[in-house]
Amino acid sequence: MDKLVIEGGVSLKGTTQVSGAKNSVLPLLAACLLTNERCRIKNVPNLRDVNTMIKILRSLGAYAEFSNGEVVVEAKNLKSHSADYKLVSTMRASFCVLGPLLGRLRKAKVSLPGGCIIGVRPVDLHVKGIVSLGARVEVQGGYVVVEAKSLHGANMYLGGAFGSSVLATDNVMMAAVLAKGKTVIESAACEPEVVDLANFLNKMGAKIKGHGTPCIEIEGVRHLHGTDYHVIPDRIEAGTFILATAITKGDCIIKGAFKEHLGALLDKLIEAGVKIEDADGGLRVRPRKNLKPVNITTLPYPGFPTDMQAQVMSLMSVTPGISIITEKIYPDRFMHVAELNRMGANVMREGPHAIVSGKKSLSGAPVMASDLRASAALVLAGLIAKGRTEISRIYHLDRGYENLELKLQKLGARVWREKE
Ligand code: UD1
Repeated sequence: MDKLVIEGGVSLKGTTQVSGAKNSVLPLLAACLLTNERCRIKNVPNLRDVNTMIKILRSLGAYAEFSNGEVVVEAKNLKSHSADYKLVSTMRASFCVLGPLLGRLRKAKVSLPGGCIIGVRPVDLHVKGIVSLGARVEVQGGYVVVEAKSLHGANMYLGGAFGSSVLATDNVMMAAVLAKGKTVIESAACEPEVVDLANFLNKMGAKIKGHGTPCIEIEGVRHLHGTDYHVIPDRIEAGTFILATAITKGDCIIKGAFKEHLGALLDKLIEAGVKIEDADGGLRVRPRKNLKPVNITTLPYPGFPTDMQAQVMSLMSVTPGISIITEKIYPDRFMHVAELNRMGANVMREGPHAIVSGKKSLSGAPVMASDLRASAALVLAGLIAKGRTEISRIYHLDRGYENLELKLQKLGARVWREKE
């Protein structure tokens, strides 16, 4: 296993390029199962999760090859409708093969992904939507088994206790594109990655309207065809680099950081005093001596993203004053709190709230990565901490950040990978 070593204290300077969005590319790859023609997905980041999805597609009988940032998929002869526990349990997003398998083959068997370190993660909304389309659903031996003689369009409400669901919206959309008649999803997720998937499906011949709003309308078609598609940049990676610049009081241009995808984050950072302006193909983040604390509540898009909660906590940990961070999507997503406190932060958790008393500085320490975004938070803390930080279990980072340490090195950071 590898660990990341960081010697903190360097202000980041220069230009970096954001990679393609992980959370877009995973459903896009699954959507390739909806056609027997060849699809070419471009701007694909080389991540562990992407490679896991490619393995799943191959296990179903599809041809899938990844080279030079492009994945070619041809799902001509599917030999299986079953996605195995071994692969699905390593990545929850693999559950999004359920919708396309059902749409294409009228049956699917996908392992239940189970909970994960950031909390209980049910799939009731996926099931509700798929049942509305006319499928029978059973849970057998840890698998969700779905079958339908035919799929028909339906009106459905997909809001849950924590709001809309990204992958449930994706799954239902992918099953409904090949259903007979019209489907209307109310309380659909509005995330840019859902919009990217709908745009891809429309390029394949689907008829989807309203994506990007809470009401998506899908007119079923008989057949989808192959196409080429360029994935949007990763807004969470962009946000992580914006915060890396802010926390180190650096001056960086982040290419591929789209203002329109980052509204809630930029609003809070500007309130905190970070200078952000348009730059060629992205955003420029500039230093400000004294930032002030801000309160943050995570919400479904366009609200503040839960996937940026841990990273913003690192910034607030070194911003003198009190800030309150409230997690409304995954109330238990606070694994990073104890590790940040090991680096000298003062964060107290109270249920779904974290009360952060900002300090002047943090100190380097050996810490442990627990999940993807918590790992990114520790990297940010390490960049500003005095001395040496060693982050173990960084395989979590490799799930979602392409060449993170190389990109940070190019901006001047003293960071490298070592064997544990
Ligand atoms: C996606 C993202 C993940 C992000 C999350 C929330 C991908 C591959 N992953 O995950 O990075 O953190 O959105 O923005 O896109 N829920 C239910 N029932 C369901 C499904 C979800 O109650 O059937 C709840 C979840 O427990 C959570 C909330 O709804 O509280 C939102 O989860 P959801 O949007 O489904 O997350 P994912 O799509 O799995």
